[in-house]
Amino acid sequence: MTVLDRFFFGDQVFDALRDNPSLQLVRNDVRWFDGSMMAGQDAVVDMAALSNDPAGEMDPWKTFDINYLGRVRVARLAREAGLSRYILTSSCSVYGFRDGLLDESTPPNPLTAYARANVMAESDTLPLATANFCPTAVRFATLYGLSGRMRFDLAVNGMVKGARQTGKIPIMKDGTQWRPFLHVRDAARALADLLEQDPSSIRGRTFNIGSDEQNYQIAKLAELVAGSMQGRPSLEWYGDPDLRSYRVSFRRAREELRFLAQLTPVDAAHEIESAIASGAVVPSTRHMTVEWYHHLLNDTAASQSVALRGVVL
Ligand SMILES: NC(=O)c1ccc[n+]([C@@H]2O[C@H](COP(=O)([O-])OP(=O)(O)OC[C@H]3O[C@@H](n4cnc5c(N)ncnc54)[C@H](O)[C@@H]3O)[C@@H](O)[C@H]2O)c1
Repeated sequence: MTVLDRFFFGDQVFDALRDNPSLQLVRNDVRWFDGSMMAGQDAVVDMAALSNDPAGEMDPWKTFDINYLGRVRVARLAREAGLSRYILTSSCSVYGFRDGLLDESTPPNPLTAYARANVMAESDTLPLATANFCPTAVRFATLYGLSGRMRFDLAVNGMVKGARQTGKIPIMKDGTQWRPFLHVRDAARALADLLEQDPSSIRGRTFNIGSDEQNYQIAKLAELVAGSMQGRPSLEWYGDPDLRSYRVSFRRAREELRFLAQLTPVDAAHEIESAIASGAVVPSTRHMTVEWYHHLLNDTAASQSVALRGVVL
């Protein structure tokens, strides 16, 4: 298995994979790596991206360059090299703001550069399908849970961190907005399962990946997390009212892929709370996506440490 990444968050995030004797870590960029690297691979799971709305707004052109053009490039190189599969990790944020239960046939309504780049990447990678090449897009719900590249900028994780550090759970206003959620280990299992699916059933298709039961209004989610934690944290509002609100149907993945989420935000709250309590995870700026990218861009030593071909981001 080869992991190609810019390692913006360091290569220690891949430590859990190092037992795999076939693992190769390659520091490179999806925008210009040499396509000959594809030789001998079977499939690409394309997760490289500026990975949330605020990071996308930081520099919309870079976002299009990486999240749209970079992904299309990777998919084309994979097809040219004779790989059989390409999985694009898109996002349910493509639905933006809509009432009702949204499914894969609902027209996207992307409200941010990040979401628009996802829609464009789907539009240009899925038609690359041939009898021998199977591109598939997954639209993940918002993820949560412990991971090698811990992200405290994700709602559930940030709530647990806030509760541990200040006794207060941060909630983005006004709390009525809907969002679907999924544990990161369930997301990883969904990707592994997709690699085993019969290509004829997933070729050129899009799947929402999440769980109908885990569509939450943010205030309800915060109450759920608060109720599962020690010391009963209080709620603390922040930000301007969030314009994004979407409730998503995961019926296609459930019925066609037999995908069911196994873990819940309460499981994540417990595991993250103990990881912080034991010191296994020490929250820092590195765990906050947009803050970390700002640090890389603005601190000279940090810029030099990640620059490739003189390009920081
Ligand atoms: N985490 C979520 O809630 C969520 C939800 C929906 C979709 N997704 C999608 O899943 C994928 C992975 O998300 P994540 O949460 O692991 O994000 P992440 O920020 O932890 O990981 C993204 C990785 O991409 C790498 N990267 C960025 N630009 C690159 C470039 N030009 N070339 C090579 N590598 C580059 C970074 O170094 C980083 O390791 C992304 O495509 C994201 O949009 C995530």
